[in-house]
Amino acid sequence: MKFNKILAFAAAFTALAACSSNQIIEDFESGLEKWTIEGDSFEISNASEELSGFEGFSYLRSSSDDSKVGSAVSQPFQIKSDYINLLVAGPKSSMGRSALSVSLVVDGEDVLASGSIGKDEKTFEWLSFDAAMYKGKTAQIKLTAGEPMRFGTRTFPRGFIAVDQIQQGKQRLSSFYPEYKVSVKVDKKYILIPAANNGSNSRLSVMVDDQNILGIAQSAKPATDRIDYYIPVNVEKYSGKTVDVILTNIYEEDMVFGAIKTSDEMMNEYNEQYRPLVHYSPEFGWTNDPNGMVFTPQGEWHLSLQYNPYGTSHGNMHWGLATSKDLIHWTDTPAIIAPDELGSIFSGSAVVDHDNTAGFGKDAIVAIYTSAGQGQRQSIAYSTDGGYTFTKYDKNPVLADPEQRDFRDPKVNRIGDQWVMALAVGQVVRFYGSPDLKNWSLLSDFGTGMGSHAGVWECPDLMCFDYNGQKKWVLFVSINPGGPNGGSITQYFIGDFDGKRFKADPLPYPLWVDEGVDNYAGVTFNNTTGRTVFMGWMSNWSYTGQTPTLAFRNSMTLPRDLSLKSNGKHLILSSVPSPEVYAARAAERAIEGVSSSQSFSIPSILENNKGAYEIDATITPDAKGEFTLTLSNSKGENAVFCFDTKSQKLSLDRSKSGNVDFSASFAQKPVVVSLNPRNEYKIQMFVDRLSTELFINDGDMVFTNCVFPSEVFNKFDIASSNCKISVKDVKVYELK
Ligand code: FRU
Repeated sequence: MKFNKILAFAAAFTALAACSSNQIIEDFESGLEKWTIEGDSFEISNASEELSGFEGFSYLRSSSDDSKVGSAVSQPFQIKSDYINLLVAGPKSSMGRSALSVSLVVDGEDVLASGSIGKDEKTFEWLSFDAAMYKGKTAQIKLTAGEPMRFGTRTFPRGFIAVDQIQQGKQRLSSFYPEYKVSVKVDKKYILIPAANNGSNSRLSVMVDDQNILGIAQSAKPATDRIDYYIPVNVEKYSGKTVDVILTNIYEEDMVFGAIKTSDEMMNEYNEQYRPLVHYSPEFGWTNDPNGMVFTPQGEWHLSLQYNPYGTSHGNMHWGLATSKDLIHWTDTPAIIAPDELGSIFSGSAVVDHDNTAGFGKDAIVAIYTSAGQGQRQSIAYSTDGGYTFTKYDKNPVLADPEQRDFRDPKVNRIGDQWVMALAVGQVVRFYGSPDLKNWSLLSDFGTGMGSHAGVWECPDLMCFDYNGQKKWVLFVSINPGGPNGGSITQYFIGDFDGKRFKADPLPYPLWVDEGVDNYAGVTFNNTTGRTVFMGWMSNWSYTGQTPTLAFRNSMTLPRDLSLKSNGKHLILSSVPSPEVYAARAAERAIEGVSSSQSFSIPSILENNKGAYEIDATITPDAKGEFTLTLSNSKGENAVFCFDTKSQKLSLDRSKSGNVDFSASFAQKPVVVSLNPRNEYKIQMFVDRLSTELFINDGDMVFTNCVFPSEVFNKFDIASSNCKISVKDVKVYELK
């Protein structure tokens, strides 16, 4: 014990000698009487095995018990040097850790604060406050361990903070910047910030004339040891001005340090390996649900989307916007609705207010979305320029229910003489009615005891079809998790809607809009008279955060026209490729089929195959049995679709489809679904680099699944083991 003490003393002495210009403000070796302690969280801790890197024997530490909250404030001292350096352990950046902070208080006000520091929370690391501008002033160090952070009903664990060896001196002892600020003279279109999927968790602000042009600070992942992509911040509007880019939680040794630059290009390779060619994917950033899809009065297709403009994972939810004249080729435009004090912008819809019911103007496009902040509430925004820029309504939110935690994804349609909103509320769909899109009253609830409740209910849509002269209504409800093959999936109900209440026909629910695992949160475009056009998000919540793309993540399905048809037993929803899809066919190749054979092969689907194509064929098995459709490449990777007409199952094995290890839930098990027995199977297989969409028998069924082969699949085989097959009407199209 004595020996240890001497050793530790020697170590402390050496450290002191090494930086003799440092003036110690506090080393916690002699109690806490100079500190003001509030609450029951902070106390002196003595050397223990738990933490390392402190000096001497003791340090100040808050409790790890989140129920103990409080603060510790040092006695005042005068700032005489450029830097205040202190050793800190504990608060590594994460949601819950924002309840911990260490700050420099000057003349009674917090002027510099760090909520996060540390590559490893158990090791003390230097934190340096740049205090040069406060020289001569009186300062204090303040630590806080606050109430754990809550978001909705979730509570984020907080943990502890510890400090030691507070001193001031000429040198910055830390390579860590709680706030890293770079001033950039705007001479080009974009400021580019190097970032990576394994980057640090940081908050990004871009300040022009004291205003954050991002609205509020956004989360970002600046590059530490590799660069996956550049975050493009469009600063065109501020040409000639000086913009301050501020990132939190950066180390000098991080790759982003000193590497923020300007450019007229986005600097992200558009044509990266898995970039779809005929499906919408954002040029940069993350997308999930399609939102606010509308055919505008100006004749354009507008696809808004759940969008993160500052990274490739879910977060900073905005509504992005892509526009198209042909439903296939899309142009990104700047995000149209950004997060605000009411919260992130979650899913919703857009309508054309032909009769100016809301008072925003005739034919105004009104977006109805969920503000997801402290609770979920519905807000609106309107556009009078054909859907390119939106103004938020100044009395948002327009619909709230503090009792409800999951209260989101408003889909609004004009039904009769009112607007009807379908909203996901916990485990039901709630319908609200409104004369003006601003005042909403409850009409009814649907869903208790109906369909699948294996996950939370999300993204409803109510649509009306004409079936043999009769009006029938279909209600979509997405669920996550709980899909029969894992993760997220969309179910539907068929029934009647009387303007107030939806009543489902007795059918063998759950029924799925798409049997595959990669079509979620899909809804239909508004303002498409005479047709019902659908698009879904082509991914699955169970692995979407890990899929192997770089500058963008996720794409949408092909547009599909929906209708009702009979499957011989009852009505079902039919999805077929929208006619616009066929306009993307570039080169057509007819291929001779086979009759009564065990195999059929297209050894080279396309010369110079860029990855987007359609294969059509009609396959007739001569008896009940199994036949497979295999897409493969020269590396031996494949995706095998098996039609088992005996057990009436269709499956997809993607275990050898290429890049599969990014998530255990991606390919461990085959995707297995029911197959309607038919004499012949007319298939349309659409492949677009990372996706396969298999349409069977003109809307009988659709099966959408992603794959990530390391080389384009350019070979297609049909093979049967226990029956013979005839294959006819074979066509291959390149899609462009
Ligand atoms: C569905 C969903 C919606 C929500 C949005 C958030 O995928 O969870 O319920 O509004 O994503 O991004």
